[in-house]
Amino acid sequence: MRLSPALIALFIGCLTAGLSLILQEISLNYLPAALPEVFFLLFQGFVATILARMFRLAIWWQWILFIFPLAIWLALMLDLTPSLFFGGFLLFALMYWSVFLTQVPYYPSSNSACDVVAGLIDHDKRLEIIEIGSGLGGFSIRLAKLHPKSSYLGIEIAPLPFLISLIRSKYQRSAVRFRLGNYEKVDLAHFNLVFAYLSPAAMPKLYEQCKAQMKAGSILVSHEFIVPGVKPSATLKSDRDSKITYTYEMV
Ligand SMILES: C[S@@+](CC[C@H](N)C(=O)[O-])C[C@H]1O[C@@H](n2cnc3c(N)ncnc32)[C@H](O)[C@@H]1O
Repeated sequence: MRLSPALIALFIGCLTAGLSLILQEISLNYLPAALPEVFFLLFQGFVATILARMFRLAIWWQWILFIFPLAIWLALMLDLTPSLFFGGFLLFALMYWSVFLTQVPYYPSSNSACDVVAGLIDHDKRLEIIEIGSGLGGFSIRLAKLHPKSSYLGIEIAPLPFLISLIRSKYQRSAVRFRLGNYEKVDLAHFNLVFAYLSPAAMPKLYEQCKAQMKAGSILVSHEFIVPGVKPSATLKSDRDSKITYTYEMV
């Protein structure tokens, strides 16, 4: 079993912080003059970056592990009230929730992605549509306006985006239902169209779930991310942005 990259990065961060403290202790006891704190932070970031490369973590983890010790040091020098950090932590936790496990953070799709998907739907048909990872709800609310005959469910794992989507749908009197939860626990058999805007890491497992549960003829629509090793049934592009939307028809 491979650990999630966030847990590996956490392990590297703790290990190198420990090493840096030990080095600082040794230098205080054995060197004639104290070395500046920034030296140890650079040492920590440097070793962490090497370890991140050894563990084949993505490039942004290498940057995070290098920059964070310095950023924390600078933030401590500002002597800000701890409640500010706690408030920031709470906000990020509610917004991004279990992203360290799902590897799918929140970022919205554009209206043009929604319009591309709208073009796939027959205006006279009543489809059961689910948006997995519905974020702030903008995609489904817009699609429901364009195709009011179909039925829509958005499922979102992070509490704050879910709450915002719920308020938006009530405020805009949208027929879209939003639910808090993990799409992996939803039976997709009931849906004709699954829309996903997730991340490359989530795609293989999602495709297996769709293949196992969805009926023949129903489609998985993935904005921007392909299913590795599977040929899409169609590749769609908006003329308003460069991102591609892929469809996978179930057989
Ligand atoms: C890239 S955002 C896309 C948001 C929205 N679909 C859109 O197009 O604007 C992905 C969303 O999926 C959510 N997500 C990730 N894993 C999930 C899971 N297993 N179950 C439900 N939601 C999930 C994230 O919290 C995030 O809000």
